[in-house]
Amino acid sequence: MHIMMLDNDTDFDGWRKAARRLALNDVKPADVTWTVRNAAELFAASSVNGFSANDLPDAPHAAFNVSATFVKLARTAILHRNGDRFALLYRLLWRLRSHHDLLGTTTDLDVAEVNAMARAVYRDIDRMHAHLRFREIGREQKARYVAWFEPEHRIVEAAAPFFASRFADMPWSILTPDVSAHWDGHAISITSGIDKSEVPAEDRLEETWRRHYTGIFNPARLKVMEAQHSYWRNLPEDSIIRPLLEDAMRMTGGFIKNVASEPHTPERQQDTPMVRGDAHDTIAALREQAAGCRACPLWKDATRTVFGEGPQTASVMLVGEQPGDKEDLAGRPFVGPAGEMLDRALADAGIARAKVYVTNAVKHFKFVPRGKIRLHQKPNTPEIRACRQWYERELAAIQPELVVALGATAAQSVFGKITPVNKNRGRLIDHDGTKVLVTVHPSYLLRLPDEDAKAREYQRFVDDLKIAGSLLRRSAHAA
Ligand code: URA
Repeated sequence: MHIMMLDNDTDFDGWRKAARRLALNDVKPADVTWTVRNAAELFAASSVNGFSANDLPDAPHAAFNVSATFVKLARTAILHRNGDRFALLYRLLWRLRSHHDLLGTTTDLDVAEVNAMARAVYRDIDRMHAHLRFREIGREQKARYVAWFEPEHRIVEAAAPFFASRFADMPWSILTPDVSAHWDGHAISITSGIDKSEVPAEDRLEETWRRHYTGIFNPARLKVMEAQHSYWRNLPEDSIIRPLLEDAMRMTGGFIKNVASEPHTPERQQDTPMVRGDAHDTIAALREQAAGCRACPLWKDATRTVFGEGPQTASVMLVGEQPGDKEDLAGRPFVGPAGEMLDRALADAGIARAKVYVTNAVKHFKFVPRGKIRLHQKPNTPEIRACRQWYERELAAIQPELVVALGATAAQSVFGKITPVNKNRGRLIDHDGTKVLVTVHPSYLLRLPDEDAKAREYQRFVDDLKIAGSLLRRSAHAA
């Protein structure tokens, strides 16, 4: 029996090195026990010695490759609290040596389990991003922002970079029972976890946050909020949520009674609010959070955040550049001239717009005023980067089979780097497990001065969209 000792609960590099050496030395999964250093006493007590990867002979000449997809999956699943995660990952690695397509067999028990673990970890990261609240501790020059959070999984290090980019200018600490993360304006450092009783109580932000929360409280989200109670019990708004919920329940109950006692007209029935499933509520919740986004300065001049829209079950997600003048006023993406062009091309490609999710890389309108006109400005890289969190979260909520990047800004956001449109256009590209199709932005077609070129380019655009159309039809068939 080999007892492999890792440095800590999230020691992916240690696991990877050990797993590689074990596999190269043909050590079967059943012959390995995995543990972490802080549980070492247990083994000391039973007088069993643990090995680290360095205790196994290396086999420097033996070739052993696994796909980037597996590495990403393992890096995520290792953050799950499941005590068998190291063993499960090694078992998968062992099986992948002879069964290269194993990860595609989603009915396989090991594959299903690791996928479920990774999904739970992503969900937890998402919740932490959405629910964590900083409190201001100290005064003026010494002010520091502190948050307490109890994650379900060991996600603090994975979730922290989001807060570093979102709150880059303020020194903060995120305290959790597992580990604590600290940002000093330059780098994130990790220290040990703490007990809740040690969390500083002083709080100047609390009252402000309660007032803000009362303002944005949305009773339409009652169902989600009830399901998420365990997450908001640590938030400052916890003390006011119960009365707000009770008020909203009273109003909703009254509304339903009133409607029932009145003779209905069909229009009236259609107006009755629908109870939606949680899947839909996730995008609704993201939209609500994004409404207050201040991650870059564009919110200051724009009328509102223009979030994506469409079914959460969409298998195709279209990403544009940013809302224009009309979209900024209407609060919906692609409703102006570029939207008309897009609608026409979608129809010609056999795609119903109502079946796809439509969003933008940047969610605020960027412009310069010229008299009465607001002149569109291209978003820059820091703006695209600041807004990318919303695209990533829409992507995670929708999990489309295909993302269509319309133009260079969308492609930059989708791939996380500058990606030339012409070089990558019109073919399916695998990116982090999602297929991506790059094509031109519909406003490019509007700007072409020559009618022949316009017709030609329009047809090319439709042909690109047809790739998405055939995928949509295939997945409708399979459903
Ligand atoms: N252009 C875009 O990229 N998105 C819109 O929503 C409108 C115009």
